[in-house]
Amino acid sequence: MKIKNICCIGAGYVGGPTMSVLALKNPNIKVTVVDINQDRINSWNDENLGDLPIYEPGLEEIVNEARGRNLFFSTDVEKAIDEAEMIFISVNTPTKTYGKGKGMAADLKYIELCARQIAKVATTDKIVVEKSTLPVRTAQAIKDILDNTGNGVKFQILSNPEFLAEGTAVQDLLTPDRVLIGGEESEEGTIAMNSLVEIYATWIPKENILTTNVWSSELSKLVANAFLAQRVSSINAISELCEVTGADVGEVSRAIGMDSRIGPKFLKASVGFGGSCFQKDILNLVYIAKTYGLNEVADYWEQVIIMNDYQKRRFADNIVSTLYNTVSGKKITFLGWAFKKDTNDTRESAAIYVADALMNEQAEIIVYDPKVSEKRIYEDLDYLGSRSPEENRRLLKVVKDPYIASEEAHAIAILTEWDEFIEYDWKKIYDSVVKPAFVFDGRKLLDAELMSKIGFDYSSIGISKTQNK
Ligand code: UDX
Ligand code: UDX
Ligand code: ADP
Repeated sequence: MKIKNICCIGAGYVGGPTMSVLALKNPNIKVTVVDINQDRINSWNDENLGDLPIYEPGLEEIVNEARGRNLFFSTDVEKAIDEAEMIFISVNTPTKTYGKGKGMAADLKYIELCARQIAKVATTDKIVVEKSTLPVRTAQAIKDILDNTGNGVKFQILSNPEFLAEGTAVQDLLTPDRVLIGGEESEEGTIAMNSLVEIYATWIPKENILTTNVWSSELSKLVANAFLAQRVSSINAISELCEVTGADVGEVSRAIGMDSRIGPKFLKASVGFGGSCFQKDILNLVYIAKTYGLNEVADYWEQVIIMNDYQKRRFADNIVSTLYNTVSGKKITFLGWAFKKDTNDTRESAAIYVADALMNEQAEIIVYDPKVSEKRIYEDLDYLGSRSPEENRRLLKVVKDPYIASEEAHAIAILTEWDEFIEYDWKKIYDSVVKPAFVFDGRKLLDAELMSKIGFDYSSIGISKTQNK
């Protein structure tokens, strides 16, 4: 079956870039990305490409080429569903904040709403593709809703999880390690899977496109994220051991990563992992395991989250204890708020939790991030509900210049590994801060020797302080 019309519901971090690349590589397919959020759609349609709703290196060029040719952004969800032979569901699936499975299970209400809307509108057969990360067996729930419409329309459900990482979305989409497509084990299922394989095969070698059954595909996505996060928690656990024993976690990572069975990637110690996926997906895995009574399995994976929470807390505690056990009224500069470099996304960013802990100690935080807006930063803090919005605005300020941010600071904390931080004139910063000049590097970003030479009292995740001197 040749697909000519695609609709993607959800114009977010996943739907937007994925459909942009898909449209770029398939000029003969009309791709319409829809969202109920009018502001978001307006931004995707903005003449000024710098105002796209998300920042990803290389994305502007792709949108510029495909938009208006065969890539469209719209709020007319029903029309796009009606026209399409293939519908991607790419809406958000946050962790539930209420009821059964609160704080752990994925909230599927947006997915269900999509399924019901598709069921209502569809008059011709459709292939429905789950793109959002979902708990295993969600495809079945979508199928139940779609199959009970009684209007004779036939649906095939595919699972096609997205593995792109933010900040490298375009590269990951252009040259993915693999594309995974799960479908029903039947003739119709195979036809549906093949039609999606053909779309990807316009730019991805066929041997990198895997087809499996639906459950394997859904579970693989959760497991991939759980394994990646587990590597970060594992090296972070070792980072504390390095700090007290005098080993350097960077050297340890390098040494173990050269073992081809371990591999060099995802072994960077940090202030803790963030992002919209890792925590949510592990909690989801834990919830599924518990649902089946697999308590040891659940506990095993939950430890990855416990370690990550500990790492963020430990970083904040270290700042307080180093600053003579009080940060009340002291100015602490945060370089970085995003959960990693090259993105304006802040979901679950370690910076939020470190700031919250320090604000509980009445510190004054000054934030500089090259891409994150002031509005976003306050939203992140207000969402925590730790104190009133007024109090958040009193204790934390956002500035647009790193040198101004650092003036008269009692300490500088590096929360995101933005490249530009390395290039700063650290001597100039040293001259403007309160002495002793403390720097807490949560990303092991700066050159310890150089910082000490300038005069900083520099500490970094995973390196013992005595070793710096
Ligand atoms: C291990 C390390 O691999 C080696 O680098 C170190 O020097 C000594 O310890 P060894 O114990 O000889 O070597 O064998 P290894 O191949 O690592 O297997 C260890 C155990 O893990 C075995 O029981 C093996 O069956 C099991 N294993 C290994 C699995 O169950 N699954 C795997 O994927 C790999
Ligand atoms: C992740 C997965 O990588 C991606 O495949 C999936 O589709 C979505 O979730 P993302 O969250 O965008 O992508 O970014 P990623 O690069 O995986 O980083 C996640 C967090 O882990 C960041 O906070 C990052 O700083 C941290 N991290 C990553 C480390 O602290 N150390 C590392 O070695 C790697
Ligand atoms: P992700 O990282 O998974 O892409 P985002 O939150 O960035 O998550 O994007 C999800 C998008 O889906 C949001 O822009 C949201 O407005 C949109 N969305 C959620 N539910 C629906 C729906 N029923 N119809 C259309 N769009 C929806």
